[in-house]
Amino acid sequence: MIVSGGIAAYKCLEVIRRLRDQGIAVRPILTRAGAQFVTPLSLGAISGDKVYQELFSLTDEHEIGHIRLARDADLVLVAPATANILAKMAQGIADDLASTVLLATDLPVMVAPAMNPLMWSHAATQANMRILRERGIGVIEPGEGEMAESNERGIGRLAEPEDIIGTVTGFLGGGRLKGRRALVTSGPTHEDIDPVRYIGNHSSGKQGHAIAGALARLGAETTLVTGPVQLPDPAGVTTVHVRSAQEMLAACEQGLPADVAVCAAAVADWRVAERAAEKIKKDGTGQPPSFRFTENPDILKSLSAPGNRRPGLIIGFAAETQTVIENAVSKRRAKGCDWIVANDVSAGSGTFGGDTNIVHLIRGEGETDIEHWPRLSKADVARRLGDEIAAALETAS
Ligand code: PMT
Repeated sequence: MIVSGGIAAYKCLEVIRRLRDQGIAVRPILTRAGAQFVTPLSLGAISGDKVYQELFSLTDEHEIGHIRLARDADLVLVAPATANILAKMAQGIADDLASTVLLATDLPVMVAPAMNPLMWSHAATQANMRILRERGIGVIEPGEGEMAESNERGIGRLAEPEDIIGTVTGFLGGGRLKGRRALVTSGPTHEDIDPVRYIGNHSSGKQGHAIAGALARLGAETTLVTGPVQLPDPAGVTTVHVRSAQEMLAACEQGLPADVAVCAAAVADWRVAERAAEKIKKDGTGQPPSFRFTENPDILKSLSAPGNRRPGLIIGFAAETQTVIENAVSKRRAKGCDWIVANDVSAGSGTFGGDTNIVHLIRGEGETDIEHWPRLSKADVARRLGDEIAAALETAS
């Protein structure tokens, strides 16, 4: 665990103590700035291990070496992660022990950012976070609140120790969904017209991938079936790449049995009935070609059909551009899924491809069956949905 500087560094002591209570060994690396906030003595006492601080320490290198430090673990956690260390990670700077370990490691890495809200919202930090997320670094999102060192409010507080501990234990296999299997679909499908053209849509896969990552962090053995996206595979998730709706359905069937299925993919409803073997040419008449369309299989509906391979809990998404809730309620009924997550994808909503989402979780048709969530990052939507899924499966068993 890398402890970098910042007023929140004191919280790492509680995180380490509680991780150790759960049988998880923690080897601390303390940055120079981190040592301004917690002493190596307290960190060593709480962790029961040596505290590593210097890159060129002869004794440290003799005992373990920074390369082994970067390899002999199941996970590297950076908590708190300052704007500075996040920037170094994004740019590949290795100028001290912590940043060198981060560059040399091939282990999964999680960061728990903590900083002043203006530093967090700064374009530079947000650009660095985008890079880190794209590389598959797990982010334990900072919370909102008053800063300890100033009267400023905003996003930047270190996540609560229980969130950090839950994420780590979930990832290491001790989470609320341990022993459960999850199936998630994500991204668009591409329905080929000919060898060079296809029908697609604007889904980036961000929401579905975040859900798969969140379920894996809660301990579920997670399979993600994804259409073509520009995202890295989420850490700890078995990812199957497909192109078309037909391929997605086949991969989902392979992913069964599952305790929970979440269909967040934007599956094309239709494909051309006859895919041309060669590129379709203009015929010189000025008339565009015409296509006959045929309906694609409905994956959500097919998974939701009664039968002994039906997952115990099936969650669909409804992407709507008008009368969002009403349409989603009807969609839930028509598809036979248990819950449906409604979101607005109209122009200007920023849902497709954006980093945030406003969703409504619909479990039934009464007013109390519908929860309206505020605008959240897609990561937070995923985390909250993961908690709802864990609670539902716990109640059902
Ligand atoms: O990927 P992002 O850029 O992050 O955007 C996220 C999202 C908007 C794609 C996501 O939040 C979302 O709403 N996904 C569902 C998109 C969709 O296709 O919705 P729909 O209302 O057309 O379909 C309803 C449900 O049926 C969905 O669960 C869909 O996966 C499923 N479906 C639809 C058609 C089909 N042939 N098979 C299906 O399984």
